[in-house]
Amino acid sequence: MKQKICLITGASRGLGLELASKYKSSGYFVVGLSTQKPNMEIMDIFDDYVLCDLSSDSSIDSFICYIEKKYQSIDILIHNAAVQNHYSILDTAQYKNLLLNEFVVNFLAPVKITSALLPMLMQKPSKIIAISSLLQLGPKKSAPGYCSSKAALSNWVANLRVQLNLTDIKVVEVVPGLIKTKMTKNASEKGVEPSLLAEFIFRNMDKEMVILPGARLAWFLAGFAPGLIRKILLKGED
Ligand SMILES: NC(=O)c1ccc[n+]([C@@H]2O[C@H](COP(=O)([O-])OP(=O)(O)OC[C@H]3O[C@@H](n4cnc5c(N)ncnc54)[C@H](OP(=O)(O)O)[C@@H]3O)[C@@H](O)[C@H]2O)c1
Repeated sequence: MKQKICLITGASRGLGLELASKYKSSGYFVVGLSTQKPNMEIMDIFDDYVLCDLSSDSSIDSFICYIEKKYQSIDILIHNAAVQNHYSILDTAQYKNLLLNEFVVNFLAPVKITSALLPMLMQKPSKIIAISSLLQLGPKKSAPGYCSSKAALSNWVANLRVQLNLTDIKVVEVVPGLIKTKMTKNASEKGVEPSLLAEFIFRNMDKEMVILPGARLAWFLAGFAPGLIRKILLKGED
């Protein structure tokens, strides 16, 4: 296939959908993934769409099998899908399952998919782009698992970059602040439009770290005042 292939997880809405649209309009062959197909009106953004539940091992295995059979190489792999659950660790009946679900979808699924697709990514110069979060820097009162899963993802991405250093695979971490999406339905007024961020990510994908507009001041401050940033993050409940 002459076209470059871009595979995006969590492509049915929000930032993933905007990224899919951006890569498609820039000439890429776009493969989307989520548990539910996007609306018919936006399906023409995608050249291929795979239904896959990233919380299920067997569903990930089927997805990997499908991709390996259908394509020879991947140019860009974007780990964008994520869940954010809201709960208290004191609610023991709930919290273990919800926290596990966040770690599986937000952290272990990207690890598993990356490992399986490495041979395809090695076919030519390629990129792995992982969407982390400013919330890797500190706690959010209602979402302990989300914050810690994003910290794990960020740390893993840094290790991946070191280990893939001698290959032609570039590893990019994207750090968003608040985005206007379904995930942060309470924050729609304060967040940044996902289309603006998709454009920004596309223009900056040659960097190792892409700190998005809306996250930059906090990221900069965290370098020398981590305690202050934790307090600020705790105040925002979105
Ligand atoms: N929104 C924010 O303020 C914010 C801030 C910082 C970082 N981020 C990060 O930005 C990325 C995009 O978030 P967003 O705000 O666009 O979220 P969103 O609107 O909630 O979209 C999440 C996407 O992930 C998919 N998804 C969720 N669970 C899945 C599963 N088990 N298997 C497969 N796909 C699954 C959803 O599709 P289905 O439900 O159809 O499966 C959807 O396409 C995430 O990594 C998020 O952590 C967001």
